[in-house]
Amino acid sequence: MSVLRVAVLVSGGGTNLQALLDAAAAGDLPARIVRVVSDRRSAVALERARGAGVPTRVVRPRDFAERAGFDAALAAALAESGADLVVHAGFMRIVGPAYLAAWSGRCVNVHPSLLPAFPGLDAPRQALEYGVRYSGCTVHFVDEGVDTGPVILQEPVPVHPDDTPETLHRRIQQAEWRLLPAAVRLIAQGRLRLEGRRVHILPPTETGEDVGCQGR
Ligand code: GAR
Repeated sequence: MSVLRVAVLVSGGGTNLQALLDAAAAGDLPARIVRVVSDRRSAVALERARGAGVPTRVVRPRDFAERAGFDAALAAALAESGADLVVHAGFMRIVGPAYLAAWSGRCVNVHPSLLPAFPGLDAPRQALEYGVRYSGCTVHFVDEGVDTGPVILQEPVPVHPDDTPETLHRRIQQAEWRLLPAAVRLIAQGRLRLEGRRVHILPPTETGEDVGCQGR
């Protein structure tokens, strides 16, 4: 089976990046992390990437006069790495048309809620304030909206009566560390087919043949 080349976009701590690095190192993921790109020089995730010997790049919006310039530079930094797939793992920016023209259908995001509930910032806080009994996490394809793309996988997580946004987020992240590698594995195995908004998960092939992400 050929190995999927994965680039990861990060803004912060990088625990989801770490989950992907660990799964790949353990041989649990038919994928190789080929580059990590951040919009922030100070992102701890960049240290995790360097620690794993993965090349990094910083592309900051403030270095571009216009938003479209940032999007195009981001798309180019990812393309240069030869990536087949881009994972937004705690990347706290909305991507624009210049980015999506290059990567639509080949980029996924992890979000700390059961979408379509609580998109955008501070999802665990939104869930607590709403008073839901369960929240969770979602891995979905990225589209032009805010956390609106087709859902690949979701996992529910219970909300405890004494939760703060921080304790709930930590519990959700533990689910994310399972869910994100599982979604990347399905893509690497060519087991996703997109039909409208619905993502069908195909059974494993007997040969384990890698046929890529279908239906784009
Ligand atoms: C994760 O919980 C991810 O779901 C969330 O940021 C966190 C990043 O953690 N993303 C969003 O809220 C995007 N809307 P990490 O840097 O430790 O992986």
